[in-house]
Amino acid sequence: MNNQTKDKWDRHYDSCSFDTPLAAVVLRENQHLLPSQGESLDLACGRGGNALCLAENGLQVSAWDISESALKHLSLAAQKNNVTINTESRDVSERPPAPASFDVIVVSHFLERAQIDNIKNAIRHKGLIFYQTFIKDKVAETGPKNPDYLLDPNELLYFFNNWRIIHYREEGKVGLLDKGFRNQAMIIAQKP
Ligand SMILES: C[S@@+](CC[C@H](N)C(=O)[O-])C[C@H]1O[C@@H](n2cnc3c(N)ncnc32)[C@H](O)[C@@H]1O
Repeated sequence: MNNQTKDKWDRHYDSCSFDTPLAAVVLRENQHLLPSQGESLDLACGRGGNALCLAENGLQVSAWDISESALKHLSLAAQKNNVTINTESRDVSERPPAPASFDVIVVSHFLERAQIDNIKNAIRHKGLIFYQTFIKDKVAETGPKNPDYLLDPNELLYFFNNWRIIHYREEGKVGLLDKGFRNQAMIIAQKP
């Protein structure tokens, strides 16, 4: 376990409010694409807005994060919303998901390029990835400053280039910058 990362995120979540978090846009606006049953994972879940949304859609849900403080928030929110979520304090860099272990994986605001192949392998045949995170071509200060944690143009398409692309959105700095979906890219893709 990377204790420095864990401590940093524990401190962050210790100072967060206990409001119920929202799912990322990629999931919130595309819930109709989820299967009616199956096993799902909110990877690097934070306070678990995605996990709560997956559970409300009837899926079995695992939610993993390195921060125990984040998972405490999520457990309380799950109780409040009367849903079951299997939370696990887990460093996904050291212990990625096993091959073919989930029907749906959601990743939001987390980018570790070395884990992309593990995430792809962990999804079952015909399973779905929902991925949304920050891009280098941002128009606002939001998101990480370190370019290692920001996507290059079309990088999510590159990661899943041999999968069926169901939905993709990335606007960069094209057109009216105060309108549209800026600062992030999102993809939904199905494993062949
Ligand atoms: C920016 S937050 C995003 C949280 C959530 N997915 C969201 O969209 O709100 C990044 C999350 O990644 C978690 N994280 C960072 N490194 C991790 C690792 N190696 N294994 C598991 N979780 C990690 C942090 O604890 C934090 O909750």
